[in-house]
Amino acid sequence: MADSISTAKLLTSGKASRRDFLYVATAAFGAVGAVASLIPMISQMNPDASTLAAGGPVDLDLSKVAPGQQVVLRWRTRPVFVTHRTPQAVEKLKDPALLSQLADPQSSELQQPDYVANWHRSVKPEFGVVVGICTHLGCIPLFEPDPNPTSPAPNWPGGYFCPCHGSKYDLAGRVYNGVPAPYNLPVPPHHFPSDTMLRVGENPPNSDFDFATIRQI
Ligand code: FES
Repeated sequence: MADSISTAKLLTSGKASRRDFLYVATAAFGAVGAVASLIPMISQMNPDASTLAAGGPVDLDLSKVAPGQQVVLRWRTRPVFVTHRTPQAVEKLKDPALLSQLADPQSSELQQPDYVANWHRSVKPEFGVVVGICTHLGCIPLFEPDPNPTSPAPNWPGGYFCPCHGSKYDLAGRVYNGVPAPYNLPVPPHHFPSDTMLRVGENPPNSDFDFATIRQI
């Protein structure tokens, strides 16, 4: 049985509340210690931390996650970024100009279940689901979905930015060339039991993917 979590109890980010997420990400700044710093802050917002820590799947009601927003939930002690991508963001994932800048645009490395080794790295194109731990040294990347000429980096294209050493990922968690992080962000097992429900930590029916086989978390 999965744990149901209302979005009101989760840490959300997006245009309306990004400052909240930045605050937590900044507090967690600092390489490997970032994960240990962030988890207690998130766990305080979850209704059943002991069950979550044990690794059970986590349900998220998607009806309250607006396009352009991100929700951070906790699964197996790790932050998981759930992003409701706008139609424009979905289209951008296929842009050849973007793909040419990515280190692993086709998800060739085993950083995701086989059933999401696709162009959007998820079960549904409009919802991104990635483990929010930088594959360099374990910082928590920032959700910066909008292009910006100066912030958080010059000519910022939109996506995830790791402030520790400047690694960049697109909104599918695909890492850019020429940054310290070697791999795409991991994608956890997930599927949609209904049109409005996401379940993280459980494979779709007919899949037995083992998350422990992921190359690097
Ligand atoms: S931990 Fe070094 S760039 Fe992310």
